[in-house]
Amino acid sequence: MHVAHLSLADFRSYARAEVPLDPGVTAFVGPNGQGKTNLVEAVGYLATLGSHRVAADAPLVRMGAERAVVRAQVVHGGGPGPHGGAEGERRQLLELEINPGRANRARINRSSQVRPRDLLGIVRSVLFAPEDLALVKGDPGERRRFLDELITARAPRLAGVRSDFDRVLKQRNTLLKTAALARRHGGKGADLSTLDVWDQHLAAVGAELLAHRLDLVAAMQPLVDKAYEQLAPGGGPVGLDYRGSIGDEAMAGASGREQLRERLLEALTRARRQEIERGVTLVGPHRDDLLLKLGPMPAKGYASHGESWSYALALRLASYELLCADGDEPVLVLDDVFAELDARRRERLAELVAGGEQVLVTAAVDDDVPGALRGARFAVENGTVVRQ
Ligand SMILES: Nc1ncnc2c1ncn2[C@@H]1O[C@H](COP(=O)(O)OP(=O)(O)OP(=O)(O)O)[C@@H](O)[C@H]1O
Ligand SMILES: [Mg+2]
Repeated sequence: MHVAHLSLADFRSYARAEVPLDPGVTAFVGPNGQGKTNLVEAVGYLATLGSHRVAADAPLVRMGAERAVVRAQVVHGGGPGPHGGAEGERRQLLELEINPGRANRARINRSSQVRPRDLLGIVRSVLFAPEDLALVKGDPGERRRFLDELITARAPRLAGVRSDFDRVLKQRNTLLKTAALARRHGGKGADLSTLDVWDQHLAAVGAELLAHRLDLVAAMQPLVDKAYEQLAPGGGPVGLDYRGSIGDEAMAGASGREQLRERLLEALTRARRQEIERGVTLVGPHRDDLLLKLGPMPAKGYASHGESWSYALALRLASYELLCADGDEPVLVLDDVFAELDARRRERLAELVAGGEQVLVTAAVDDDVPGALRGARFAVENGTVVRQ
């Protein structure tokens, strides 16, 4: 798929921007702080309903404005047909109104009947950015988000499972917190009779999320290893090891949703006293991690800066391959990544992505865009985006 037109209103630094785009490579070039990342961030937002830079929506709305609107004309299919025309092409106009603190609003082809979540899966993108280093060096939450975003990109209905899980977890935590407070104040403890019910909910929806994460990790393993070898030959092997909060023993051999549900329930039972003491849910996919190994060692805490970078890039390249294998090629976004790489890895990465259906690159100077990525070019300066 590709984005044929991107239109912004009060998004980040842009009061307005209209950017017509073609398939193939497009580079946005301009000095620091001029709005290059803001453009590609908008594409990423349509794909994931989140920003790769900030957790909250407020910074996405232009200072002083109330809401931001991101619009994109998206084209699926439409490879050149035997008669030269684009056959089987499907165009959709997506619109997302970002209202910090309130519900966002979405439209597809000007119909107002859709939830923002219905946009998921239409714009597919894989975004490479300096922030990706946190996938390797950062907290487990970064890696969980990586897995869950990829799961939702491949199967949008799982956005519902993610939000169900978040809701159940929040309610269960509220119950535990009340109980913990009551205990601390000498009471007999709050009414915990409903906790069993919440355990059942948490185990059921948690198991579904967990099963999808395990499947994803298994599918990613060979792809990440291959990508790392392409970027840094001889530097691997790399290994992905999903670490569940239910414990290694419970994880071992558990497969399928039903078995995982049972193991989660058992783990919740074991943890119950401690959970009531601490007033928080200690078991579940929200406490899991993905251990990234480089050779026999964990990458986090052991890998060099360059190795960590290659690892992060390999995770994104593997995501790209996986999404392509599903039959709908995602937009590749490379935000400021080339400046961070040495010449060899720069060329390798450029070669690996050059054939993508649509590749959006940002760079501060022309020289940072590798030769393999010649294509359309926009100058981004003083809030204007001008085709060269
Ligand atoms: N909500 C907002 N309202 C107004 N301006 C904003 C908002 N958020 C960010 N900006 C401005 O946007 C600019 C940053 O844009 P962006 O991150 O796209 O820069 P860039 O061109 O990618 O720069 P670099 O080369 O340093 O990565 C900053 O000057 C920042 O002040
Ligand atoms: Mg930038």
